[in-house]
Amino acid sequence: MALTTTGTEQHDLFSGAFWQDPHPAYTALRDEEPVRKVALPDGEAWLITRYADVREAFVDPRLSKDWRYTLPEDQRAGQPAAPTPMMILMDPPDHTRLRKLVSRSFTVRRMNELRPRVEEIAQELLDRLPSEGTVDLMREYAFQVPVLVICELLGVPAEDRDDFSAWSSVMVDESPAEEKFAAMGKLHGYLTELLERKRTEPDEALLSSLLAVSDEDGDRLSSEELVAMAMLLLIAGHETTVNLIGNGVLALLTHPEQRAQLAADPSLITSAVEEFLRFESPVSNAPMRFTSEDVTYSGVTIPAGSTVMLGLAAANRDPEWAERPEELDLGRDSSAGVFFGHGIHFCLGAQLARNEGRAAIGMLLEQRPELALAVAPEELTYRESSLVRGLTSMPVVAGPAA
Ligand code: HEM
Repeated sequence: MALTTTGTEQHDLFSGAFWQDPHPAYTALRDEEPVRKVALPDGEAWLITRYADVREAFVDPRLSKDWRYTLPEDQRAGQPAAPTPMMILMDPPDHTRLRKLVSRSFTVRRMNELRPRVEEIAQELLDRLPSEGTVDLMREYAFQVPVLVICELLGVPAEDRDDFSAWSSVMVDESPAEEKFAAMGKLHGYLTELLERKRTEPDEALLSSLLAVSDEDGDRLSSEELVAMAMLLLIAGHETTVNLIGNGVLALLTHPEQRAQLAADPSLITSAVEEFLRFESPVSNAPMRFTSEDVTYSGVTIPAGSTVMLGLAAANRDPEWAERPEELDLGRDSSAGVFFGHGIHFCLGAQLARNEGRAAIGMLLEQRPELALAVAPEELTYRESSLVRGLTSMPVVAGPAA
């Protein structure tokens, strides 16, 4: 396809200036090469960027989670379907079985019961934010809220959070493969030990109820599946929501008129959180899928055996469904965005994440009305990850409590 002067070739993709602001590159892709092979730091993948294509691809069974489709057919036998038995890496019927088992513990009731605790946790952290001097809002707040909430939900000792957070960020960022494996091994070892302890000392939290589910007759979670589920929940529960909070707060700090609207009408927080998710999607691209046969999207054929990434950040700013997509508009209805995925792998923690975002952002704005960035927005740096979009730090002056 011929490229114009705004063509994709003019943009870095998953390297260099891309990390700072990926949106011009996503726009060029969506407009000109909506299905295209991209080089990633650890391999290559086809990236699909139009909203309609992404929605359809999410429910296309030919886009499998089974990585063995990337191998020649005669080499697939004997290989495990997933490197670890996490449901996010699996197709039906294995996915269906695991999702059903965890859904029994991950109930709406449990999420609602957790709501006042989410607010208490945010309040404790807010009370500790100094009113004067610079503080890193990512480290002291945006990261702490989800990590403390997920620890409480799962029943993981909060004092271990620095360790497992370090391991999990190595797994999510563009780190060398051997570092990723090492970090995965450590997290796996940690959770295996913790689950062993819970077998003899059960509590009220989710890991203990998963253990109970695994001990019931009939369908069971094996020990390996339990550890993998705990790992998935721990990683998914805090690598994403931190960036909803960070990206949301930054969006407010750089759009004073929108901030004033929200301050004047706190009930806007519900639609505001959907809009933050659309505007700067914390999961910028959905984890890998693999083609079981040739598939065609927007006229481009992706051959069988390819790796495919679904471009959520690009799709969420597609003018085909969102009017004035580059504008932050807290009052608009963004709920049709694909920020939590779509179809059978739709985010299990969506309601929890929304509750956390509403509490953490809403309470911060209300209680620290003078909150301001301590550096120019251009000086902020982003994580180098093809999966998540988030700041490495956000120096702010919190200002006095209201
Ligand atoms: C799946 C986004 C928070 C647990 C997903 C998927 C997306 C996503 C896009 C689909 C992945 C795919 O189709 O390959 C987000 C965002 C969050 C968030 C943007 C925060 C703003 C959470 C939280 C939890 C969680 C708080 C748990 C406590 C999961 C799990 C899956 C998942 C377990 C896999 C579901 C399955 O395979 O059936 N999430 N998530 N997420 N999410 Fe979230």
